[in-house]
Amino acid sequence: PLEHMDTVWLFGYGSLIFKVDFEYLESRTASIQNWERRFWQGSHDHRGTYEVPGRVVTLIEREGSHCKGVAYRVPTEVFDHLDVREKNGYLRFFTPMTFEDGSKADGLVYVASEDNAAYLGPDKDEKMARQIAMASGPSGPNAEYLLKLADALRALGDHDEHVFRLETLLKSESI
Ligand code: BEZ
Repeated sequence: PLEHMDTVWLFGYGSLIFKVDFEYLESRTASIQNWERRFWQGSHDHRGTYEVPGRVVTLIEREGSHCKGVAYRVPTEVFDHLDVREKNGYLRFFTPMTFEDGSKADGLVYVASEDNAAYLGPDKDEKMARQIAMASGPSGPNAEYLLKLADALRALGDHDEHVFRLETLLKSESI
């Protein structure tokens, strides 16, 4: 039945890369231009608590950069019921996406901007890594989120300096 439905591409750049709990028809590595991943969104409901919020990723606009992720082709109908985990504070919109073979499509992406209540914004890398090391919520430890994301990005052949630097700090004794 899935094959007979209208579909949309959902572009995942965070937990959607390593934790897929919905049905989809196909998945493809893809990139979006002029966006970069940052651990700037607070999480008090998934990877932290109100007392000790965690940090999860959002995207910032940056001319000339790109963000690699995974696109999932999802039936529109299923998508409408899909509880995209951190809807909380995230806005969704379509953005142009490029697949590895150079072909293009529009992908639906969830971005948390600085005007949402859970937004934390930038901090020193050491402080962000320490916060991630400390926090844990209903979805599990915040550290697990960072480590799984970093592993998944390596598997995609991505070189996300921001994520890999936080991963290195998290694993080091120095924080
Ligand atoms: C993502 O992986 O792209 C994502 C997951 C949850 C909320 C927003 C984005």
